[in-house]
Amino acid sequence: MLQPNHRAWVEINLDAITHNVCTLKQFLQAGTEFMAVVKADAYGHGAVAVAKAAIAGGASWLGVATIEEGIELRQQGITVPILVLGATTTAEEVYALLEYRLQPTVSDWGEAQLCERVAHHLGLCLPVHVKIDTGMSRLGMPWQRGAAFLEAVQKCSALEVVGVYSHLATADELDSEFVQVQNDRFRQSVAGCDIPYRHLCNTAGLLLAPSLHYNLVRVGLGIYGYVPAPHFRSLVQLHPAMTVKARISHIKILPPGTGVSYGHRFCTTRETRVGVVTIGYADGVNRGLSNQVQFSYQDKLVSQIGTITMDQCMVDLTDLPQVRVGDILTVMADATDWATKLHTIPWEILCGFKHRLPRLICDGNKTF
Ligand SMILES: Cc1ncc(COP(=O)(O)O)c(C=O)c1O
Repeated sequence: MLQPNHRAWVEINLDAITHNVCTLKQFLQAGTEFMAVVKADAYGHGAVAVAKAAIAGGASWLGVATIEEGIELRQQGITVPILVLGATTTAEEVYALLEYRLQPTVSDWGEAQLCERVAHHLGLCLPVHVKIDTGMSRLGMPWQRGAAFLEAVQKCSALEVVGVYSHLATADELDSEFVQVQNDRFRQSVAGCDIPYRHLCNTAGLLLAPSLHYNLVRVGLGIYGYVPAPHFRSLVQLHPAMTVKARISHIKILPPGTGVSYGHRFCTTRETRVGVVTIGYADGVNRGLSNQVQFSYQDKLVSQIGTITMDQCMVDLTDLPQVRVGDILTVMADATDWATKLHTIPWEILCGFKHRLPRLICDGNKTF
């Protein structure tokens, strides 16, 4: 593998993305399409590269959170349909939706009218997805009024309702009872309407039951190589696509009883060979992980010691005398471990690596 000339970086294995999409698609019946959710710069992985790898794996739709995210994909030549999952609030945004062939989510009458007014003014037709709130209590028309809202939007002459969807609130919980409640509400809302795409599932929903799939699923976390909760692990084998790496910049030998880093929250108990690693919390290595995580060097674990600082942190290299200044450590290869330690979720860990870390695309064992 080529050794990149950076202090620290994020490696993205696009083969893993393609593999994960192919693997997850095997859960779907023929005719059900796959939307790769690449919002938030593809959960920190790099939206354009991930979108292309997901399309190579069989994704026929992309999902983004914002219009800017959609524009970036279009400007890089991506042509598949793109759904904007977030809200549309200004006329300028509707112009952009039309110009870049992005499909908005319409959650209420105000949003529908805004889209209708601008599209009508330009003499154009805007494809939209109507969102129904079946229990997430975020975007979407409350399900009791869902069918009526859908009918009303269908009557807008400058809008074409190409999709109707909802979002599951509890699909990754052990108890999936409320998923059925949401599915029943969704089914009732869309009963009898003639709309090309109906979609409800995130990664967890996809893994839960084919009855939730309808004819399109919106998958984020799974394509990056993670299941949404431990109880899904036995169902599918996915490959994490992101690895975070950094270098050893200095090595020093400290006598027993020496405090390390701010607050001296680590104190050596033996003569310790301490390595300074070129990554810190300003790169996305959460300070809350101080003294709690292990990095790795060629498959050997290395304990992080002392408070993680803004740009650097320290490791104990005493048992790895072969490690030299300039050597590379793997800082993060499993977001689940960090998420557990930080009482959060893998989604937040993946999105947390800052853009001062370059994203290096690697293809299997090659980095280029
Ligand atoms: C509306 C919507 N659909 C789908 C997804 C993808 O979810 P996941 O990453 O759990 O697959 C998200 C992610 O937050 C979302 O907001």
